[in-house]
Amino acid sequence: MQDDQLPGASLGFHTRLSHLGRTGRETLGFVNPPVMRGSTVLYPTMADRRAGMSKRYDQALVYGTMGSGTHHALEDVVASVEGGTRCQIVSSGLGAVTTPLLAFLKAGDHCLMPDSVYGPTRIFCDTFLSRMNVETTYYEPELGGADLLDRMRGNTAVVFVESPGSHTFEVQDVPALAEAAHARGAKVLMDNTWGFHFFQPFRHGVDVSIQALTKYAGGHSDVLLGGITVADDANWRRVRDTALALGQYASPDDCWLALRGLRTLGVRLDRQMQSGIEVALWLSARPEVLQVLHPALPGAPGHALWKRDFSGACSLFGVVFQPHYTPEATQALVEALSLFGIGASWGGYESLVLPTTNFITRTAGSGRFGGPAVRFHVGLEEPADLIADLERGLSALREHAPQAATNP
Ligand SMILES: Cc1ncc(COP(=O)(O)O)c(C=O)c1O
Repeated sequence: MQDDQLPGASLGFHTRLSHLGRTGRETLGFVNPPVMRGSTVLYPTMADRRAGMSKRYDQALVYGTMGSGTHHALEDVVASVEGGTRCQIVSSGLGAVTTPLLAFLKAGDHCLMPDSVYGPTRIFCDTFLSRMNVETTYYEPELGGADLLDRMRGNTAVVFVESPGSHTFEVQDVPALAEAAHARGAKVLMDNTWGFHFFQPFRHGVDVSIQALTKYAGGHSDVLLGGITVADDANWRRVRDTALALGQYASPDDCWLALRGLRTLGVRLDRQMQSGIEVALWLSARPEVLQVLHPALPGAPGHALWKRDFSGACSLFGVVFQPHYTPEATQALVEALSLFGIGASWGGYESLVLPTTNFITRTAGSGRFGGPAVRFHVGLEEPADLIADLERGLSALREHAPQAATNP
């Protein structure tokens, strides 16, 4: 897609976040679009109703499940951030994964998934898709285009990518994988949650971009939403038809919250990127740490690909501790922290932490690290305070190390 065809492409990122999704809407003079709730939409005549129905692929107000002005305002902003043309809002990030998988796969098809994929995506493939007679095979996330071709079959309909993986942070060579997938007629679906704004999927060959808006778009850990963005009319029809057939619907109140979150996405991402890098660099210099899995750090796994394809980094990264620390010791670290909440998800204004070692399922032999791993999400707090908190955590980690390792 050419840059000049992208919505609002001539405007800067922060300007688009401030202005998109507001023009041409019924705001009654207020700055923000209202929360538009409703199931039934009334029409003065049957002819008017027929005209409304014909706008199935447009931003029509026909029936609640097709979305209201609040949904469409959010869709406009998300499509612009992703660099696509149309977006379908669904009830969660996981819904944004499963809906396009169902749109582009049918019984008898084959799907290729990175071994590093978000756990519930793997569960969906191994249960739901498997029952549908869709076979999934998992590939090493570092695979190149030529090797992907070897893994493709005559019935491979979808090549899925998630870059970087949200627990283990492998960066994928998306353009090479997309070229290989397209050469054999497969669609490329990408979970682009980590790279929201920083990775422009449609400039790298992706057909459908999946976004857990629950994360940085919402930004306040109080909303669950997903966005499925495309840059092509035929893909749009497939996604839209599937979402409507599944009854995928999100509350307009939640859309309104996400729209409000998006207005400050740019400043939050800038700040969280800087703080995340500062904290990750500090951790990388600590003797307790074997490796920091942060693609923006020189020397980190995937750094070269990140530098080539991304314009920045969010504030979610992993830390692998020295092998003599046990998973129980990393648990002590996590519990000693007071500014990092122990919990799933990420992208809010607050810092989070989660040991990842026991969460990781792998079947393609990838993702083996040299020690126990912990995932950190850096929020909007002062990095110096977070580092002081981590000092306390590392003391707790050392206290739980086997004696032989602490006093060699
Ligand atoms: C990479 C990734 N994709 C999708 C999701 C699913 O998002 P949600 O929690 O909104 O279902 C998550 C949630 O953690 C995630 O990390």
